[in-house]
Amino acid sequence: MPEPLQPALDRLRPLLLDTGGLVRAVASGRRRTAHPDPQRAELRPVDLRGERHLQVTSTDGRIPVVRNLTGADAESTVAGLLAQPFGNWHVETRDSVVQVRVTKRGEAQVHTSEQTAEPVDTTHDRAKNHLIDPADPLFTVLGADAAKRRQVDAFLRQLAPIARKVKQEGRPLRVVDLGCGNAYLTMAAHRYLASEVDPGVQTLGVDIRPEMAERNARVAAQAGLEGLGFKAASIEEAAVDPEFTGVDIVLALHACDTATDDSLALAVRWQARGVLAAPCCHQDIQRQLADSQGGIPFAGLTRHAILRERFADVLTDTVRADLLRLLGYRVEVVEFIDSRHTPRNALIRAVHTGTAPTARRVAEYTELVSAWQVEPALAERLRPEVDAVTLG
Ligand SMILES: C[S@@+](CC[C@H](N)C(=O)[O-])C[C@H]1O[C@@H](n2cnc3c(N)ncnc32)[C@H](O)[C@@H]1O
Repeated sequence: MPEPLQPALDRLRPLLLDTGGLVRAVASGRRRTAHPDPQRAELRPVDLRGERHLQVTSTDGRIPVVRNLTGADAESTVAGLLAQPFGNWHVETRDSVVQVRVTKRGEAQVHTSEQTAEPVDTTHDRAKNHLIDPADPLFTVLGADAAKRRQVDAFLRQLAPIARKVKQEGRPLRVVDLGCGNAYLTMAAHRYLASEVDPGVQTLGVDIRPEMAERNARVAAQAGLEGLGFKAASIEEAAVDPEFTGVDIVLALHACDTATDDSLALAVRWQARGVLAAPCCHQDIQRQLADSQGGIPFAGLTRHAILRERFADVLTDTVRADLLRLLGYRVEVVEFIDSRHTPRNALIRAVHTGTAPTARRVAEYTELVSAWQVEPALAERLRPEVDAVTLG
């Protein structure tokens, strides 16, 4: 039930100033026709030189400003932030999470839930080691353990430089995650991009399983993620859906078998400037290799099933990287997380530069697929574009 706004905001003030109980608070969004200054603020307790401070990180959409405050400074800053026309307050304390959303009529929709948070980590250098604060409520709602948080960090370290590179001035960054599954990397990417790269970032997670879209939207709302949506659709459906225009970054993380190729093909067709794909199982080329001899001296590479499987992984991703290069992307293939977390730990990172391939690059690709007599799924999806480059 909506309630008057001012008393609801007044109830937040002591929670924000109680640096013994506060875990983290975020003020974000805006009310109708109003523009808060700053655009977003994040508050958390931090210990500096043996004294507890309230750390306030505010951003105008470009550069974050961090202040560590005590006493009257903290009180006046909190009062100033509460007076700003933010659309949402998310306040997490050690025993509760209070969310205040301002309705279109200017009333407060308050949601309070109980929680038992771990003791607050108030060390000042915590941010240096994690791209998303381990105390972020996102991890609580996702039930992420330390291993998952490390995987999130490793992934964000790959995403961050690409996102900064492809961000366009004057319009929000658009990210699409194809085959997002339970979307914990989608949500982490969105949280990070919104706080560090572009507060207006729009992210859409796509998965063929309808129950995923419903569940993910619910979790994202609990974590206070705005600008993040989910759609139940196949990658093939996304290809013809006008909702997907102006996509800057395509993510495809462990999308099964040729779903990675479908995603890469779509990224090329959408002219996405940034692509991050962590391939999953590689059955397509593996099947083709079973019939292919590779000729002398390569036949031994596919004679034994285990080696054929490993070689198929390498050949598939080599060909994917080659094709992206032929189509104007600068490509790196890197290990993005320790293989103890997942054996599928290669990541194809690509940024569109529009550079035409050299004759040598074209020959490398055409001779490779001809030697192994394979027809890569990605080449088949992008037949006209690939022919235009390889046939001259
Ligand atoms: C192994 S999960 C990976 C999920 C997530 N990206 C991650 O890294 O945790 C692969 C996901 O891709 C989805 N998927 C597979 N083929 C798809 C297609 N053609 N269109 C959309 N989603 C697809 C599956 O439903 C599944 O949720």
